[in-house]
Amino acid sequence: MKIGGKHYHTIWLKEDDQQIVQVIDQRKLPFQFEIYDMKTVEDAYFVIREMVVRGAPLIGVTAAYGMYLALLGFSEGDLEHYLKSKADYLKSSRPTAVNLAFAVDEMFDFIINNLGSPELIQLTLNKAHELKQQEIEFGEKIGEAGLGIIEAIYQRKGETVNILTHCNAGWLACIDWGTATAPIYKAHLKGIPVHVWVDETRPRNQGARLTAYELGEEGVPHTVIPDNTGGHLMQHGMVDMVIVGSDRTTVRGDVANKIGTYLKALAAKDNAVPFYAALPSSTFDWELEDGVSEIPIEQRNAEEVSRIEGWDGTQIQSVQLIPEKSTVANFGFDVTPARLVTGLITERGVCRADKQSILQLFPEKQK
Ligand code: MRU
Repeated sequence: MKIGGKHYHTIWLKEDDQQIVQVIDQRKLPFQFEIYDMKTVEDAYFVIREMVVRGAPLIGVTAAYGMYLALLGFSEGDLEHYLKSKADYLKSSRPTAVNLAFAVDEMFDFIINNLGSPELIQLTLNKAHELKQQEIEFGEKIGEAGLGIIEAIYQRKGETVNILTHCNAGWLACIDWGTATAPIYKAHLKGIPVHVWVDETRPRNQGARLTAYELGEEGVPHTVIPDNTGGHLMQHGMVDMVIVGSDRTTVRGDVANKIGTYLKALAAKDNAVPFYAALPSSTFDWELEDGVSEIPIEQRNAEEVSRIEGWDGTQIQSVQLIPEKSTVANFGFDVTPARLVTGLITERGVCRADKQSILQLFPEKQK
């Protein structure tokens, strides 16, 4: 997608140096556009942990390149043992998005299966490129699958389709297109009038800072709202559908996503507003059934809540927001039970949020 009219991905190999992987530093957006260089597996851990990059598919692809950087950094000893420890290290950077473990395991297995090859480094790099390319294709297909839902609402309504989204499940959270935003971009490109209600998404404000930014760069009409506004809008017929992303979705369709998603789903149910989660297959956890009890929920540091960042006209500033002595809770994600989810939009099409429908789309996952 575009920034300043120029096409970007969120992650790429440095043009003149195959040993450096570059990402957009999302901690600075929308105020400053900076590129961050990753040279080691420790850099990859850092960019995921500190949210230089974030969003489930991008976390996964960053970790894939992290395994490539780990291989570059190997000097002596037992390579398999070394790679296993780097894989575990990368996986420990953030616990909720399952794309991380998916990508690291894919890379680990690939490297182990090709250990004897004289081209091992190049093959490993190609494998990371392949996972990146796969996520781009997933995003585009999710867009095509979700477009039909938006189109149907537009045909029925005959005027602008209002879509509410939470956090950033846009192209910045992926490589291109996004998950929740992909159907929106497809509809916009097709000339269907859409308008997006963007939840600001405290504490990190991924909605206000990132979703608003990327929609703006693509020319999609949108309005940023405080996180508490969605229920009111739904009660007054101002939301036609909700689309969110996911960090981990269980086999029965429970959806973990940014904290606050569950409350939006409850309000949507109460107001008969369709609630969709858009996700690539790399976001399914095929081992889990009950999301509420089984999905690990990341707890992040208190400062993300007790302080707030903004632009003072010259630089990004962080200021204290609450009394110094107050304690803080900072749960990064919550789980929306499948019963509140109208459907899942995947690269293989749209299905109901239940085990039977999910496995119909992904029959190879049947046990
Ligand atoms: O903490 P973040 O910013 O990594 O959380 C991101 C989300 O919750 C997204 O909605 C999710 O990863 C889906 S991304 C397509």
